Amino acid sequence: GKRIVVTGSSSGIGLETARFLSEQGAEVLGVDMTKNFDYVEEFYRADLSDPRTIDVLLDVLPNDIDGLVNNAGVPPTKDANILLRVNLIGLKRLTYGLIPKLADGASIVNVASLAGHDWPNSVDAIKAADDLDFGNLDAFIARWKVSSEGGRSYFFAKEALIAWTLRNRWTWRNRGIRMNSVSPGPVDTPILGDFLQTLGARAEEDRKIMDRPGTPQDIAPVIAFLLSDMTTWIRGTNIPTDGGMHSNILCSMH
Ligand code: NAI
Repeated sequence: GKRIVVTGSSSGIGLETARFLSEQGAEVLGVDMTKNFDYVEEFYRADLSDPRTIDVLLDVLPNDIDGLVNNAGVPPTKDANILLRVNLIGLKRLTYGLIPKLADGASIVNVASLAGHDWPNSVDAIKAADDLDFGNLDAFIARWKVSSEGGRSYFFAKEALIAWTLRNRWTWRNRGIRMNSVSPGPVDTPILGDFLQTLGARAEEDRKIMDRPGTPQDIAPVIAFLLSDMTTWIRGTNIPTDGGMHSNILCSMH
């Protein structure tokens, strides 16, 4: 089986992804703050908001990794500084750092969000975020108005993640390494309540439109599909997995 690293493997979408992949015969290396599962072959405790911890993790992870699922994330109720660390710059540090340990043909899957759908309207801030690092976060948050107010930091992190995925469609093509993202709509996990709290009336509207919330079981197979050898021609793309909400937004705009 393939050797796959799954971050945020102790809860929600990451937990179900770890379970699903190991059921399919993969060797799953789980990464999270706390251990809470039976599905992973090996567990690495790491705080992915901390660059030093990420570097230690990069040292201890084995070679010949066939897949990386960047799933760990915090909800919009968190402070913008920690949110951007976990949901964006920590994720990028882990990914760039892991490239030498990835096998040729490896697949990277980022768990973005429906919340990132409007990334074309944030390109200036997204380009500026190329230079974003752990040292200059607070200045960036002030300059580009990506505080936690109204959940903006969450939206921005997901917008930047989708744009980063698209831009890196061919970065590692010489080694057959590809990167894609999956963008879930509202999924029934422990952080769904945090989204509803931040988004207020808008979340209520969404709920009226939808027939049901998503479940981790709706998302994990899509991640697994992108990790598989059936999808080597899918590169640098974002796959909305949201019961139709992304299309509903596009159709109501035009
Ligand atoms: P969850 O809260 O159930 O799971 C997230 C996992 O990430 C937890 O196990 C948590 O411990 C881990 N994590 C958080 N901060 C970490 C850190 N600093 N270091 C290491 N691990 C850390 O949440 P859920 O819903 O499964 O979310 C997974 C991903 O899906 C996130 O990136 C989230 O933004 C995204 N997503 C979730 C949606 C939803 O409605 N639940 C919708 C769209 C995207």
